Amino acid sequence: MASSTLSYLLLIPLLVGSMMVAANLDQEFDITWGDGRAKMLNNGELLTLSLDKASGSGFQSKNEYLFGKIDMQLKLVPGNSAGTVTAYYLSSKGATWDEIDYEFLGNLSGDPYILHTNVFSQGKGNREQQFYLWFDPTADFHTYSITWNPQRIIFSVDGTPIREFKNSESIGVPFPKSQPMRIYSSLWNADDWATRGGLVKTDWTKAPFTASYRNFNADACIWSNGKSSCGSGSGSGSSSTSSSWLSQELDTTAQERLRWVQKNYMIYNYCTDAKRFPQGLPAECRTS
Ligand SMILES: *[C@@H]1O[C@H](CO)[C@@H](O)[C@H](O)[C@H]1NC(C)=O
Repeated sequence: MASSTLSYLLLIPLLVGSMMVAANLDQEFDITWGDGRAKMLNNGELLTLSLDKASGSGFQSKNEYLFGKIDMQLKLVPGNSAGTVTAYYLSSKGATWDEIDYEFLGNLSGDPYILHTNVFSQGKGNREQQFYLWFDPTADFHTYSITWNPQRIIFSVDGTPIREFKNSESIGVPFPKSQPMRIYSSLWNADDWATRGGLVKTDWTKAPFTASYRNFNADACIWSNGKSSCGSGSGSGSSSTSSSWLSQELDTTAQERLRWVQKNYMIYNYCTDAKRFPQGLPAECRTS
């Protein structure tokens, strides 16, 4: 065979690989609970979780990651979703675990979801920030990303940063950087606290409630046998070229976007809740 033909044939899979092929969620995730309420559909292009009075459901990633830029598109429970919580997060194991959380608190039809975020390092959280969104998260899919590198954690929605948690180890605040984390998601009922502190109950006549997931992409360091290997992503579009996320920071434009979100859509910030911390605000709040 002519060598030009051979190299042509070898190129095809490379091109396809870099062109954002839809991720096969079934290759990246295991359904872990819910007794048939979680489903992989369309050959793994779509994953749905559902919740009824008897049970919710959930899945977790097959891989563990130590740093990465992890994107997932979610479409949340529509209509009267009050009392439902869709949790999507990274977490390590053990008593001094690390965790990076998104939680979507449902609401009555027409009333806004709350996007709740938190960061745990070495078993300690209490770092909540909550937001409304600038769109209806039930009408369509939107991309929720976690960029986690040794210097910072950036939460972003459709590419707009909503929260940055910086590494403040220099002032004694532990930062998640040595425990590999898995991705978890679940849809469950929390009408004892989620909507207006538990005042609004889940309307079970509207069950089953369903949330959907697609277009997973992880440009990440995958943990295996006590080692982390970076560079090769998993999921769709694992771009061979850049691992720029590993040193990513917010440029001026991104900082302006972040300030726009925090000014217009942030509804709770632990860093300004002086009543809650009578001994003084957490150290990381006093710096930035
Ligand atoms: C639900 O809607 C009410 C009224 O707009 C709002 O105060 C509340 O923050 C919303 N979200 C939740 C989860 O209660």
